[in-house]
Amino acid sequence: MSDLIQCQQVSYHYNSGNVKTPVLETLNLSISQGESIAILGQSGCGKSTLLNLLGGMSQPSVGQVFLSGNNLSKLNEDQITDLRAQHLGFVFQFHHLLKDFSALDNVAMPLLIRGDNKQTALTSAKELLSKVGLKDRVDHRPAELSGGERQRVAIARALITQPSCLLADEPTGNLDAKNAADVLSLMIELNQAQNSALVMVTHDEKIAQQMQRILVLENGRLSES
Ligand SMILES: Nc1ncnc2c1ncn2[C@@H]1O[C@H](COP(=O)(O)OP(=O)(O)OP(=O)(O)O)[C@@H](O)[C@H]1O
Ligand SMILES: [Mg+2]
Repeated sequence: MSDLIQCQQVSYHYNSGNVKTPVLETLNLSISQGESIAILGQSGCGKSTLLNLLGGMSQPSVGQVFLSGNNLSKLNEDQITDLRAQHLGFVFQFHHLLKDFSALDNVAMPLLIRGDNKQTALTSAKELLSKVGLKDRVDHRPAELSGGERQRVAIARALITQPSCLLADEPTGNLDAKNAADVLSLMIELNQAQNSALVMVTHDEKIAQQMQRILVLENGRLSES
């Protein structure tokens, strides 16, 4: 299989107590190397739910997700974590930074986890933090950063491993026009220079227009816009 990520007939519902909330309904999606895709859709339509499935953070109720040819439902948690570390960068909607670590350590963490040399990891993290405009904030912990600054740290953390696919959930939501444009160019640069895939959830039509494909999520399914 040449697709980097594939969703086959995926349905997803949340269960809370005995209440079932259907979100995705027999959805199909193929993401190839080098593609850039915007995912649009109303609040609550299931965009974050879909990204979580693509990244193996949750499993479909029905259907299958393949990451780099591997059927995620056939793997255990450790195998999925390894596969994710090998292929994916993830920018969460609510960034999930480690609160007791500095911006620098948060960004360097994916490199340290995969066993890179500490000095090299810190140097790369510093360079990337400069590129997102945070050269003077490297020693700040998340609580000592603004919302938009935290978001930029999270983006740097997702980009640092130069992943073959970047999944980004409203990465520019908290940013002013200039910073949004800067981080968007960084993501597009990775997409083009490394031929990696970029999947971005956004509410911003202008940002969506910069992606090769625009998909709209509605009634649990995706359609080309
Ligand atoms: N843990 C949960 N249990 C039950 N329902 C949930 C849970 N998480 C999300 N939902 C519901 O699933 C639907 C899809 O949520 P999701 O977060 O994927 O939407 P979204 O498209 O990302 O929205 P937004 O644009 O506001 O971020 C929503 O209606 C939400 O209320
Ligand atoms: Mg969301």
